[in-house]
Amino acid sequence: MVRKRRRVSFCHKSLLMARSTLVTMSIPSKRAVTAVIVVAAGSGERLGYGMPKAQVPLGGETILMHALRGVVASDVARQICVAVPRGDTTLRELIADFTVDLVDGGPEVTVVDGGSSRADSVRAALAALEDGTEFVLVHDAARALTPERVFQRVADALSSGAKAVIPAMPVVDTIKTVAETDGPDASIAPEVVTGTAPREQLRAVQTPQGFELATLRRAHQAAGLFDDKQAAAVTDDAMLVELLGVPVHAVRGASQSLKITTPLDLIIAEGLLEGPLGIRWVEG
Ligand code: CTP
Ligand code: MG
Repeated sequence: MVRKRRRVSFCHKSLLMARSTLVTMSIPSKRAVTAVIVVAAGSGERLGYGMPKAQVPLGGETILMHALRGVVASDVARQICVAVPRGDTTLRELIADFTVDLVDGGPEVTVVDGGSSRADSVRAALAALEDGTEFVLVHDAARALTPERVFQRVADALSSGAKAVIPAMPVVDTIKTVAETDGPDASIAPEVVTGTAPREQLRAVQTPQGFELATLRRAHQAAGLFDDKQAAAVTDDAMLVELLGVPVHAVRGASQSLKITTPLDLIIAEGLLEGPLGIRWVEG
C-alpha cells in the first residue's frame, strides 16, 4: 500500500514536470501559421464549484493550466487565444504568470472576454487572431488532459489539406433515439424508443477541432444570424462548418480527452493524474 502511494505520487509529479519542461523548451513550429483558441469562459454550473470551471483545482493546478500546458507541449500553436469570463481577474493573472514562463519563440498568448454562449466565446477569440493565421484549432479548457498527440493529429490533417477536422472516438454504448410518450403509454414510462442508431457509424466528438481559419470565420458569421433556438442547438464548431457543406474529417481522439463536466468527471481526471496508468496516458 505504502509503495503504491509513493509510485503514484511520482507519476503525478513527473507528469506535471514533463509538461512544464516542455513549456520552457518550446521551439518555433514549422507548420503553417496555426492558432489555438482555448475557450474557458464558461461558468461551470454542472461542476458546482461556485467558480468558473477553468479555475477549479485539478492535481494541484487549475483546469485551465493543464489545458494550456497541453497546447504548448504539442508545439502546434504560433498564438494561443484564451477566452475567459467577462470581468474575471483570477484567470487573467494565472495566464500572465504562465506566459512569463514561455521562452522566446514560444506561442504568443492573447486573452479575450468570452461571451454568453460557447459560440460567442469562439467568435470573440476569432476576432483576436493575428493577421496571417492560416489554421485554427478550437479547444475546450474543460478537456484539460488532452494528450499533445491529439493536437498534432488534428494539425497534421490540416497540413494534409483538410479544411475541417475533429478528433473522435467510437462509442461503447448502444445509442437509441427516443420521443416523449403520449397517450395511454405515458403512465408506463416518460419516453418510448423510436430507433437504434448503427453504432459502427457513431463517434463521440472531442476537441481540439481544427479548421482553415477562413472557413471557420465564414461558418461563425453565418451562425451569427441564427435565432435563439438554432443558436442553442449549436454544440460544436464542426456543426457550423457542416452546414456550409464543407467536408469534416475525423482523426482518432483519446479517452483522456474527457470533458470535465460533472463532479464524477473531475474524480476521473484526478484518477488519470494519480492512477496506475502513469505515463501511458500521455501517449494519446
Ligand atoms: N465556454 C465558454 N464560454 C461560454 C460557455 C462555455 O468559453 N459562454 C467554454 C467552457 O469554459 C468550456 C467549454 O466551453 O471550456 C465547454 O463548455 P462546458 O463544458 O459546457 O463548460 P461550462 O459552460 O463552463 O459548464 P456548464 O455548462 O456546466 O456551466
Ligand atoms: Mg456550458
